[in-house]
This record gives sequence, C-alpha cells and structure tokens, in this order.
Amino acid sequence: MSERRPLISGNWKMNLNHFEALRLVQELSYEISRDDVDAVDISVHPPFTDIRTVQTTLETDRIPFFLGAQNCHHESSGAFTGEVAPSMLAKLNVAYVIVGHSERRELFGETDEIVNAKVKAVLGAEMTPILCVGETLEEREAGEAESKVETQIRGSLARVKAEDVASLVIAYEPIWAIGTGRTASAEDAQAMCATVRAVVRDKWGDTAADEVRIQYGGSVKPVNAAELMTQPDIDGALVGGASLEAASFARIVQYRLHDL
Ligand code: 13P
Repeated sequence: MSERRPLISGNWKMNLNHFEALRLVQELSYEISRDDVDAVDISVHPPFTDIRTVQTTLETDRIPFFLGAQNCHHESSGAFTGEVAPSMLAKLNVAYVIVGHSERRELFGETDEIVNAKVKAVLGAEMTPILCVGETLEEREAGEAESKVETQIRGSLARVKAEDVASLVIAYEPIWAIGTGRTASAEDAQAMCATVRAVVRDKWGDTAADEVRIQYGGSVKPVNAAELMTQPDIDGALVGGASLEAASFARIVQYRLHDL
C-alpha cells in the first residue's frame, strides 16, 4: 500500500476580509515549523476576494502552504454573472478547490451532477478537487449514512478516470458535525472513511483506493485531531471554525506531537 501524505485544510468559509486574511496567514507561518511542513501538507481556503492577497504573501514570504479555494464554476468562461472559472484560480497558483461542500449542496442547490462537472473542470485546470460528501442526522438515524455517501461518490465522480480519482481528495463531512461542536467519534469517522475507500476500490480499483486521500471534517479541534488523524483510513482534516485562529489550526497541524 502506498504512503499517503496527510493533508490538513483550513476552510475559512465566508469569513475574514483580505487584511484579516493576510494577518492570519502570517500568524500561522510563525506557529508552523519546518518539521510540521515536512510531515503534513497544509492548505488554506480563503474567500475569493482574499486569494490574490494570500497568494502574494505565501510567495513573497516563501510560506510553504498550499493555496486553496472553496468553490468554482464548471465552465471555463462566459455569461455566468458572479461566478469564478477554474482557470482563473489556477492562474493564482491555487492548488486545491473544495467541491460540493454540504453548504453548497444544501444552501445553493448543488446536485451530484453539478458537483461532477466541477470535479472534472478542476482536474481539467490541473488543480486538485477536495470532494465533500456526508449525510444528515436524519439519514444517519435512519441507517442510510453509507448509502447516501456511496451515492454521492459514484455520482460526483461519474466518468472520472481511475488515475484522476487516485490523485484527488475526498472529505467525509457528516452534516450534523459541521459547526455544531459535535464531532463524529473516531470510530464512526474511521468506519465511514473505510466505506469511502471501499467504494473507490469497487469502482476504480486498488491503486485509486490506496492512493486517494480521505479527510474527515466536522468540528475538528486541537483536542480531537490526534485521535481522528491516527485512524488508518483518515488521511487529513478539513477544518472550519478552528482554522480561523492561528494557534488552534497550528495545534491541529501538529496533532502528531500531542498525546492521545
Ligand atoms: P467546522 O470545523 O466549523 O465544523 O466546519 C467543518 C467544515 O465544514 C469544513 O469544511
């Protein structure tokens, strides 16, 4: 089995103007050491209006974080008022684009079909999608969590080649754990991430399943990061609230230094 490098990503959502973004990236760069960067890939996902500022800061100060975005449109240009094309993000050296976040699916009506088009567009622009999947509380209580996640993966990755699936990131984010302070237990998170990998194995084969990186997201905090990150099928974390503060995000990145 191949070694998968952990990826810890900060999804800032609709928070921080470009001055605040600049300050957070600088504070983070003081908290995070060379050893951390050697052990873990780190990405930050500011709002669109902050991306250029964060890009210049990362490049000028040689801060080794990957730049990320939270969304994009699937077309490459045209009459789509208010939208941002993948190529525009690629030009800003964006490496990772979150696609199909549950907030986009629930609040902005993104279907698996739309998410599928976005995954392909992000890959086409030579960036890496972070594809989000996850069930609601009602679905979990009805025993439908696995089938919901499986449907989302098969739909969102329809007609994506195995070698592309191998290169991407899937984030399992149970909706009931997002912004609620209610984290999935490490056991439940591991079980679902193993299911995600099994679905990938079934459809795209062993290499894709062994190489695809699977993140857990939903109330990841410094206190629970180590237990989650040491599960065999969890290769990273997609962090919302706790990524808005340099000290807490850094402690999550440094999960391996904490006692379980
Ligand atoms: P919280 O970490 O705030 O629960 O958010 C998780 C999330 O949605 C990351 O994409």
